[in-house]
Amino acid sequence: MNETSGKTIDESAVWKKLQACAERTRELHLRELFAIDPQRAKKFSCELACEHGGLFLDYSKNRITDEAFGLLIELAREADVAAWRERLFRGEPLNESEGRAALHPALRDDGAGPAAAAGYSDRAATSRARMYAVCAALSAGRRRGASGKPLRDLVCIGIGGSHLGPALACRALAHLAHEDLRVFFVPGADAQQLSRTLSAVDPERTLVVVTSKSFTTQETLVNARLAKDWIARHCAREGAWQSHFLAITANPDAAMQFGVAADDVLEVWEGIGGRFSLWSSVGFPLAALIGPEHFDGLLAGARAMDAHFAEAPPEANLPTILGLLDVWYVNFFGAASRAVLPYDDALGLLPEHLQQLEMESNGKSVGRDGRALPYATAPVVWGKSGIEGQHAFFQQLHQGGGLVPADFIIAARKPHPASPCDDMLRDNFLAQTRALAFGDNDEGDPRRANPGNRPSNALVLDALSPFTLGLLLALYEHKVFVEAAIWGVNPFDQWGVE
Ligand code: F6P
Repeated sequence: MNETSGKTIDESAVWKKLQACAERTRELHLRELFAIDPQRAKKFSCELACEHGGLFLDYSKNRITDEAFGLLIELAREADVAAWRERLFRGEPLNESEGRAALHPALRDDGAGPAAAAGYSDRAATSRARMYAVCAALSAGRRRGASGKPLRDLVCIGIGGSHLGPALACRALAHLAHEDLRVFFVPGADAQQLSRTLSAVDPERTLVVVTSKSFTTQETLVNARLAKDWIARHCAREGAWQSHFLAITANPDAAMQFGVAADDVLEVWEGIGGRFSLWSSVGFPLAALIGPEHFDGLLAGARAMDAHFAEAPPEANLPTILGLLDVWYVNFFGAASRAVLPYDDALGLLPEHLQQLEMESNGKSVGRDGRALPYATAPVVWGKSGIEGQHAFFQQLHQGGGLVPADFIIAARKPHPASPCDDMLRDNFLAQTRALAFGDNDEGDPRRANPGNRPSNALVLDALSPFTLGLLLALYEHKVFVEAAIWGVNPFDQWGVE
């Protein structure tokens, strides 16, 4: 929706040009596109290289031509993505339906980054210092439970955005974990999930971390009460369970009413949506596990992506490119889903995190003003470890109907000693993107023929570190924001699930 003209983006001239261009492009095969332009791989790739690690995007295996790419860049200008981006970094109340700003960039700003103007970085540093103090007490064995034993196991209760980001990051960076701490997540209200977890930990050494921005989410509260009873049963003194609890919330009164001590409540700002909250105290399980220094590395990576998003021209701007490609397939090729395929077990929870980030943010059919939109928005995002997916659902990706663009993601260097598994993952990563794009010409047996012309992005991280994870997650956050600006939706509310 153009705020001045009141028109939706599909009424613009560039949208109509894109429709015509898509008709022409549909006829072309990626084999031909590569054959006619030897520079294609170089032309359609983009790198963000930073001192502490980088990220490379090869988007040449997408069904775009120079003309299509140029028009998509024009579409970003038509939707005024740059102005929306500035408003985001200024901390303006972009989440109109809830009367809030979207302050996740301010959480990683160090006072000199693109969100510095929002003026929240000091407040963010103060709340981070409180979180780091709890981390330091835990890792030094100073945080003790009712029986005086140091707390060593974190049972983290929370769902959706209060679970997915921290769970993904804890798994991704497990190679940096504090050797004496263990972190468990209990997201669902399922008695077996909770009892399985509780039976794996020692109540005398357990810290229950209840993360809920609202502190009203039923699934979380039912688990929190059960965990409280469980700890209380193992305490000699009434009320002693308190020393085993930490709450992370924007509703401290409710946490205190539950019985958590005021000093054990870490704040989350109202202006931080659950799916954007890893950078806040919601990231506590990760900060505790890998330590404040590495958590700072994660924030630095996200800040580097913020700076890139704020400064790079649209044709070399990674979030803008990824967002435009999604719009291209959804609105001009009718794609209803996109696959996320990490070739790295450490990133195994990325598809689930992106599923919430993208679908809860942009899965909407009305614009910012509440009027129905005449076009599709967020596709279904799904996926899992690519190497496992090859033996499960790649059949459909190669030979099935419908267009399913895919993001392939890999880290070039691994934290473990070299292994033949690494070579196999890399070779399959490359081979699959090629096979999807180029197919083969097995004309003998149509059952074996692989038509190709199936688009994918290849995203390569230098190595999986706090910094590159920060880059990657902020990349997708901003991609979602670019799409929202084009589709004219508010990516920061979620009335459908409230
Ligand atoms: O399902 C809606 C939702 O509010 C998500 O947006 C959020 O991440 C999740 O529930 C958990 O909410 P809370 O952190 O308030 O418990």
